[in-house]
This record gives sequence, structure tokens and C-alpha cells, in this order.
Amino acid sequence: MEYILLTGGAGYIGSHTALELVNAGFNVISFDNYSNSSTEALNRVQQLTDKKIISIEGDIRDPEALRQLFTHYKVTAVVHFAGLKAVGESTQYPLHYYDNNVTGTVTLCQVMREFKIKKLVFSSSATVYGDAKQVPIPETTPRSATNPYGQSKLMIEHILEDLVAAEPDWAISLLRYFNPVGAHHSGRIGEDPNGIPNNLMPFISQVAVGKRDQLSVFGNNYPTPDGTGVRDYIHVVDLALGHVKALQYLNKNNGITAINLGTGVGYSVLDMVNAFSQVNKVAVPYQIVPRRPGDIATCYAQPDKAATLLGWRAEKTLEDMVRDSWHWQSTNPNGYN
Ligand code: NAD
Ligand code: UD1
Repeated sequence: MEYILLTGGAGYIGSHTALELVNAGFNVISFDNYSNSSTEALNRVQQLTDKKIISIEGDIRDPEALRQLFTHYKVTAVVHFAGLKAVGESTQYPLHYYDNNVTGTVTLCQVMREFKIKKLVFSSSATVYGDAKQVPIPETTPRSATNPYGQSKLMIEHILEDLVAAEPDWAISLLRYFNPVGAHHSGRIGEDPNGIPNNLMPFISQVAVGKRDQLSVFGNNYPTPDGTGVRDYIHVVDLALGHVKALQYLNKNNGITAINLGTGVGYSVLDMVNAFSQVNKVAVPYQIVPRRPGDIATCYAQPDKAATLLGWRAEKTLEDMVRDSWHWQSTNPNGYN
């Protein structure tokens, strides 16, 4: 039997991708150290699909654990989600972030190479565009980073580019996600952040469910239509389907390709608050506070390359995003606990 390995498969995007891969007929193994996730997520994916997902606890910085895995199971491609993702935390603990994200990816690729596994889908981020001068943002935009998290993604992109330059038989996709939100429509899996959420949608959801008093809107004096920050929010199920398409693309195309996964449409913070409260008929009290350091005004994708190369476009609407976020949050007020 042939398998797709998902590093970080128990996480938010990994669990949704596991589900869509299984639905598309792939056999899936998750390898996760559970530093930011729970075994329950993949239990629920198994319930939803009625198929077995092999879950292995381990760290991508542990080459022996990876060797054991590749010795036991015939893995044909790796979708590499494992990594740390909190921007603020990365400025406090840069070494920890570089070790997890950069060292972890190098170790993973070294062991993949030993086993002649050379297909890789990497979770990159729109953060590699820094404060882009023009929107929509095409993949050709010059890259920069303003914090250790973003640096780690940029470094990994460069490392993988160097790898492909040296060994052209690798097939690698750098998927640059914009802002993933929402949850599977069943409400059984979703985003379960530790502690106080950094990102907008989980914060709105926790205000709506009564876990937090109100949302702080970080600035209303940006050069945007209503003054609040504009982002390209993408439904996590659309994002997951993009990974299925990327794997199919790698079966036919060697080399390395950067691909935006976004909708191409930007919504403001207040658009999100209003959509959430209107669609879900729930109050989301908020106050305007000063800008968050490091935030940019506007960011949304030029999404056409994904359509041309992968035959993929985001299909879900803003209404789907806010409805599914709320369905998950309201039926699992304490996440997977
Ligand atoms: P997540 O934290 O829910 O998932 C990451 C998973 O990786 C977790 O299950 C965690 O336990 C695991 N992990 C972390 N370090 C590991 C290690 N050393 N060894 C093994 N497992 C490890 O995050 P997510 O939102 O699902 O993000 C997945 C990937 O996508 C990350 O690489 C992230 O940087 C990237 N990304 C996320 C977003 C976003 O907004 N969610 C945006 C752009 C890019
Ligand atoms: C975050 C990450 C970025 C990552 C991106 C995609 C930070 C600083 N950056 O960016 O590296 O690539 O996610 O996942 O974390 N907002 C509020 N109040 C809140 C939370 C957010 O007003 O409590 C606003 C922000 O100012 C921004 C928008 O909501 O305008 C979205 O914020 P967030 O969800 O944190 O995503 P990004 O800032 O795009």
C-alpha cells in the first residue's frame, strides 16, 4: 500500500487536508508531536470518513523516527505542515522557531532523500511577501520577512529552491496560504488555538460564544475602505482541496513551484465582524484600539496561477466561512477538550 505522509497532520489545516485526501482515495499517515494539537482531531476525521488514518507521534527533528516510519510504510509524497506559527511568540523564542521550522524541514528532507522520496508539498505563507507594494499579490512579488516566523518560512523556501537546483528530480510545491478560516461543515473538526487567539476569526468566535468580552479591532486608520485591515480569508476546506490538487500536480511535474492559495478577494476586519454577526445572528461586541505592531493595511492574492497549474480555485463564500466557524465554535466551545 502507498501512503501520503502528513507532518503536522493533527493540526488545523493538516486535519482538514487529511479528510479531503482520504475522500479523494489516498492513504494517509500523520506524523505529529502534538505540540499544538490533539489526537482527537484525527479520531474525528476517521469517524467522518470511516477510514483508518495511521497516526504516529514523533518530531520532524528526530531522523531516527522518520527512518522507522519510511522503513515500515511506503510513502510516495510528503505534505509538510509541521511547524510553529505564532508571530509574536517567534520574536520571543527565535531559536525555538528556527529549530522547529528550519532544522525540522532540513532533517525531514535529508531523510526523505535517503529513502528516495522526492515529492513535497510545503506549507508556506503570504507572510513571505512582507508588506507588498501592490495588490493583488502575484507569486513573482519580491519576498521579505519582518519577524522570525516569516524568516523561517522564507529560509525554507530558499533551502528547497537550492535543493531542487542541485537535484532536479525533486518535485516541490511551495503553497503560500493567505488567511485560513472556517471549519469542516460537520462542525466536528476546526481550529483549536491554545490560550488567547492571535488571529481574527478564532477571536471573533470566542467573543460570540462568550469566552471573551469583546474583540479589539487593531486600528481603523489604515488606507482601506473602512480604515480596518484587509485580508484574503480562505475557507480551510478550499485550502485542503488545494493540497489534493498540488499532490496530483507533483505526480506529473518535477521542479519547484510557488503557488498562492487565496481567493483573490479582500475583506476588512469590520466586514468579518458584520458577516459573522449577521449570518449567525449573534452579537460580536468590539472596540477600536491602536494598530498592532507589524500589521499591514491590505493583503490579498492574485490566485490565477493555482487555477492555471492546479485547476483549483477557492469556491466557498464569506457566508460559508463565518457559518462554519460558528458551527464548530458553538458545538465545541472548548475545542477538542
Ligand atoms: P497547527 O499548529 O494547527 O498545525 C501544525 C501541526 O504541526 C500541529 O499539529 C503541531 O503539533 C505540529 N508540529 C509542530 N512542530 C512539530 C514538530 N517539530 N514535529 C512534529 N509535529 C510538529 O497550524 P496550522 O494552522 O494547521 O498550520 C499548518 C502549517 O501551515 C504551518 O506550517 C503554518 O506555519 C502554515 N501556515 C498556517 C497559516 C494559518 O493561518 N493557519 C497561514 C500560513 C501558513
Ligand atoms: C497573521 C500572521 C501572518 C500569517 C497570517 C496568515 C501575525 C502578526 N501575522 O497575519 O504571519 O501569514 O496570519 O495566517 O500574526 N485583527 C484584529 N483583532 C484581533 C486579531 C486580528 O483587529 O484580535 C486584525 C488584524 O489587525 C488584521 C486582521 O484582523 O488586520 C487579520 O489578522 P490575523 O488573523 O492575525 O492575520 P494577519 O494579520 O493577516
